[in-house]
Amino acid sequence: MNHFLDIHKTDPVALRGIIDMAADMKAARQGRSRGAPDDERALEGQMVALIFEKPSTRTRVSFDVGVRQMGGQTMLLSGTDMQLGHGETIADTARVLSRYVDLIMIRTFDESVLIEMSEYADVPVINGLTDRTHPCQIMADIQTFEEHRGPIKGKKVVWSGDGNNVCASFLHAAGQFGFDLTFTGPAQLDPEEEFIGLARKAGSAIKIERDPHKAVEGADLVVTDTWVSMHDSQSAKERRHNMLRPYQVNEALMASAKPDALFMHCLPAHREEEATSAVMDGPNSVVFDEAENRLHAQKAVMRWCLGL
Ligand code: CP
Ligand code: NVA
Repeated sequence: MNHFLDIHKTDPVALRGIIDMAADMKAARQGRSRGAPDDERALEGQMVALIFEKPSTRTRVSFDVGVRQMGGQTMLLSGTDMQLGHGETIADTARVLSRYVDLIMIRTFDESVLIEMSEYADVPVINGLTDRTHPCQIMADIQTFEEHRGPIKGKKVVWSGDGNNVCASFLHAAGQFGFDLTFTGPAQLDPEEEFIGLARKAGSAIKIERDPHKAVEGADLVVTDTWVSMHDSQSAKERRHNMLRPYQVNEALMASAKPDALFMHCLPAHREEEATSAVMDGPNSVVFDEAENRLHAQKAVMRWCLGL
């Protein structure tokens, strides 16, 4: 049994296996390969609990569809409807759910909830986003980059904007998949030092460059995300917007990157804020491929978790 809690906590060989399996299953579904693993019955007889303590479109739908495509069943649970939101401990919830279901995916606020769930559950637990990280998203992003541009190893990724939970998982991936990452954004919103240190220790060149145009020079991939995350206080919105405006990804910024640099955004996007529609809908944008690949990457994550 394997939990999928974070990219830096998952063995690099396992991560590569998950990406390759995701690509195989995607190809098989599109009828491009006969040799790919047959996924249609992989989760037959299995019940997957999908717990959401925050809103979601992609994570919710892609996990639900992914389980059904593999012959399993899902149970969508909202945090507020469960006793979990009314004082029952995470440990007790984990022990009870383990008696009913075969796999738990949880989207929550503080990562301690995820960690405690994994410590007390007898079934695998998957991180569907916390305030601190979003590993499933970045697995889909690695798959997306590689299907467009080949191996991500040795490439230059630039994160422009808030050093948030999605940025954190990109840093984890830099260390595990062997690419370099430059962060450009205001100092107040730098990614966590600990995560920068981990990626550097793994051999990746991690840079901080306050000038966004200098930062994207030579970039193979430019990534951004919302300026106000679900866990951020709405009262900080205006201050964040003012700090982050210089880091908007627009055509002028993309023109400073490599001509074939891809653009990614995990979505949901606030068009004309962190990225312009010209970039979002432009020729180098792969934002909807990222969204699709959530499905394929997470199917592979679930199979790895269950050893199937
Ligand atoms: N990217 C992502 O996780 O989207 P949702 O919040 O819609 O799940
Ligand atoms: N950083 C965003 C990602 C949403 C998928 C948030 O946490 O709200």
